[in-house]
Amino acid sequence: MFSTFTARRRLTGVLAGAAIFALAACGGGDTDGGGGAEGDGDGGTSGDTIVVGFSQVGAESGWRAANTKSIQDTLTAENGFDLKFSDAQQKQENQIQAIRSYIAQGVDVIAFSPVVESGWDSVLEEARDAGIPVVLTDRAVDSEDDTLYESFIGSDFVLEGEMAGEWVSENLAAEQLNVVELQGTTGAAPAIDRKTGFESATAGNPNIEIIASQTGNFTRTEGKQVMEGFLQAHDDIDLVFAHNDDMGLGAIEAIEAAGMVPGEDIKIVTIDAVKDGMQALADGKINYIVECNPLLGPDLAEIIKSVIAGEPVEKRIVVEDLAFDQEAAIEALPTREY
Ligand code: AHR
Repeated sequence: MFSTFTARRRLTGVLAGAAIFALAACGGGDTDGGGGAEGDGDGGTSGDTIVVGFSQVGAESGWRAANTKSIQDTLTAENGFDLKFSDAQQKQENQIQAIRSYIAQGVDVIAFSPVVESGWDSVLEEARDAGIPVVLTDRAVDSEDDTLYESFIGSDFVLEGEMAGEWVSENLAAEQLNVVELQGTTGAAPAIDRKTGFESATAGNPNIEIIASQTGNFTRTEGKQVMEGFLQAHDDIDLVFAHNDDMGLGAIEAIEAAGMVPGEDIKIVTIDAVKDGMQALADGKINYIVECNPLLGPDLAEIIKSVIAGEPVEKRIVVEDLAFDQEAAIEALPTREY
């Protein structure tokens, strides 16, 4: 039987020199671009409060809701933070605008989860020129210059795809297995990496064939729509590999509407392990879920405090994830945090 892995942080990578930012950060000095608080057009605060500008991807999934809550619950005034939060609605241009606004406000630290991987160098150079350190959470940027950010904390998305692919290969592919793939947002690190991981883990099994692959943008609505199209185009689908739970849940709706039984007639493997996905797994509608832990707030707070204190921080902090079959989901659900 498949059991869950132990969740813990795995620290990897090289130490980033944060000292360069120590003097330029943490309100009270006059390096915040003017020294006031949000509302008077100026991001800095007095005393020990750390002003953080956070640009979130959007509100596309249950995972994202849990991630936002973790950040907002942790970066509180009580914990010494003044959090300025913006939702980019899955648009890179909105994130770039938000980051520029945080630079103009002179916040102490900018943190963000990039909607897509590429196209960040210019705005990150602007932050560096302004002396504002940047911390990446959840998703990576594709840049050759890793001095543009202090630290990146998030899951290993390639590994998540590999874990899904390995389970499929070992458990479902004794005979020909036709797979349809619901990809995440085009150009996003988790979409690129989970696809890569799944393909590499299944490449050695000649029974597995990905017969269709399309983005469902990490949302339940688009996951359902794309699955409806797959069902119209193919009458021989054996498995849905969805890059997140929400798209898998949308696929369940489409499969049921087509008169089939999800989890039996068409198997489903997803990534995230949010409560709704875990319930579907416990109910037998999803067959396996690889977790992506969204509770990044506490670690983000620690990283930011270290950066502000001029202490070295890990360049890459990998969050280790669990994996669940039906039995493990039933066991985990009563105490599931998100
Ligand atoms: O970047 C993490 C991914 O983004 C989650 O797996 C997905 O649900 C979210 O939209």
